[in-house]
Amino acid sequence: MTNFDYDSIDLSALPPETEPARQRYFIARLRRWTKKREQELGRPVTACVTSFGCQMNAHDSEKLSGVLLASGFHPADSEDADFVIYNTCTVRENADQRVYGRLGRAGSIRRRRPGMMIALTGCMMQEKPVIEKLKKSYPFVDIIFGNKNNYKLAELIAEHIDSGKQVIDILDGNRKIVEDLPAEHKYSFKSGVNIMYGCNNFCSYCIVPYVTGREQSRRPEDILGEVRDLAAHGVVEVMLLGQNVNSYGKTLETPVTFAQLLREVEKVPGIRRIRFMTPHPKDLSDELIDTMAGSTKICRHVHLPLQSGSSRILEKMNRHYTKEQYLALVRKIRERIPGVSVTADIIVGFPGETEEDFRETLDVVRKAAFDGAFTFLYSKRSGTPAARMEDQVPGDVMKYRFDRLLALMQEVGSAMCEKHVGEVQEVLVDGADDHRAGWVSGRLSNNTLVHFPGSAELSGRFVNVRLDQSKGFYYLGTFSGMADER
Ligand code: 5AD
Ligand code: SF4
Repeated sequence: MTNFDYDSIDLSALPPETEPARQRYFIARLRRWTKKREQELGRPVTACVTSFGCQMNAHDSEKLSGVLLASGFHPADSEDADFVIYNTCTVRENADQRVYGRLGRAGSIRRRRPGMMIALTGCMMQEKPVIEKLKKSYPFVDIIFGNKNNYKLAELIAEHIDSGKQVIDILDGNRKIVEDLPAEHKYSFKSGVNIMYGCNNFCSYCIVPYVTGREQSRRPEDILGEVRDLAAHGVVEVMLLGQNVNSYGKTLETPVTFAQLLREVEKVPGIRRIRFMTPHPKDLSDELIDTMAGSTKICRHVHLPLQSGSSRILEKMNRHYTKEQYLALVRKIRERIPGVSVTADIIVGFPGETEEDFRETLDVVRKAAFDGAFTFLYSKRSGTPAARMEDQVPGDVMKYRFDRLLALMQEVGSAMCEKHVGEVQEVLVDGADDHRAGWVSGRLSNNTLVHFPGSAELSGRFVNVRLDQSKGFYYLGTFSGMADER
């Protein structure tokens, strides 16, 4: 959020070698370019950023938007724009397919829009076969770079403008962490904050460790500096992001635990809610549970990916816990943190999953009494060990199981939601309700969505809301006063 005076940069000098000075130099160059282009066109030069993935992907998009805005582009909400960038995801195959579909459409807009640039970044670009396919079949893509060096956006746009050629820049190995570049936040009052990148777990179905590299933690002082800066600009809720937050800090020069980091973030004045995503059940510590239990700021929500309820499948998935260990962990969390909600990710149809195994998953859904879950059909990702396993589950069997899981999840989730009806709880208002005029939406500490009649001016404010009616996974409520400023 830090304001930076780009116009003071001397563009007659060579680009600096070090970051973030180098990117700032290219942003300054682009500012000059966009200004000139605006004069030629007699209208603003626009850019559209589209995210295809998880919260980290969405957060990366905020950084891409920040760089584009600082470079003089105006935000556009459709791909009929001068600069279009897709921030891709590759965790499941359908995410890849969606990107190719959208790319085809962007290509046809480009044909009738002189000077339009198309760029691709994100996890999918870290896969070599994807790059080959793009080179061969999508020559109209101007800039291709991965998620490991996405801080380079301004430099790569400048390179493309100078050369007029397709620019491809993919970094192997680990991500390069560059601090202090601009970001443009979707909400002014809440923000994601990366605490680490990469994953070392190698769950056998998952492509993420191959496309993000090994775990790397940001230094606590950089994270806290960012949180303080956000708070100074009015942010009241932060979501700490990492593929496996339990391993935060292990590889730092002075190791710190995730719970220690949480306690430091808690001290930042102005921050009233702290969320995090995602912990791994195999190493969620008592220290973390105790820290949550003793905190008034850490939200009452643990997203705890289950993946499968069968110990046999969990072993084949390389998850390092059993059904019983998972259930014991959920019990402990619920006992020690009153009012906590527990949600999960679940995969249906992992290779070799039998009806028996699947019933174990249903059993865990019932016993853990999840408040919500993201359910996925297993997607074969080439290069992962699971892709080479025998007994891939046929599509129709997978689908049949998936529908039963969804039905059970709805039943279990709505019973959990029902429990809080009649209570008055604190809501942080997100903004106007998309579906009801004169209503607003916001979230409880436990992350459940609430809709209630109110003015959009309440956005970013904490209010008390009576939860009148449960709708399964959300509530309809009534405003019952502003929540005390803390
Ligand atoms: N197929 C289906 N779901 C997957 N996930 C990760 N890899 C795959 C795959 N190959 C799911 C997991 C993970 C979430 C982010 O995506 O449930 O927790
Ligand atoms: Fe993938 Fe497992 Fe790492 Fe999550 S913990 S990103 S599922 S390998």
